[in-house]
Amino acid sequence: MLADLVARARAVLPNAHAPYSDFRVAAAVLDEQGRVHVGVNVENASYGLTNCAERVAIGAAIAAGARRILAVGVTAAKLHPITPCGACRQVIREFADADAPVASDAADGTLVATTAGALLPGAFSFETDATG
Ligand code: THU
Repeated sequence: MLADLVARARAVLPNAHAPYSDFRVAAAVLDEQGRVHVGVNVENASYGLTNCAERVAIGAAIAAGARRILAVGVTAAKLHPITPCGACRQVIREFADADAPVASDAADGTLVATTAGALLPGAFSFETDATG
């Protein structure tokens, strides 16, 4: 399942719009309906408007009617494995439980997996019992 997610991300890596950083990233998320949604980083000439691949994938999922994210796969052209940035970690936790896997591909092609909760302990939430 995680290998498939990373493969689905890798398949859309050429679609990344990264002319400024030349650092292509792609992500795939599995929703609670068993569907996979993909995203790539979308940069802008006004650099701060850049959208990360993970948040683009999650946005596509939510727009398609997903309510929860069960797993995340992420890959990059020039970094193996890659790990989501801080902002993306918070957005992942908005939709994914703390034990949801987040995987990427190492340089030798093997998978490296952690969890959404391990990536962002103490994520902000309006629920007081969701920290930790
Ligand atoms: N980037 C992502 O898409 N996801 C990450 O987790 C880290 C960074 C993008 C943003 C920017 O387009 C490029 O990688 C370099 O920071």
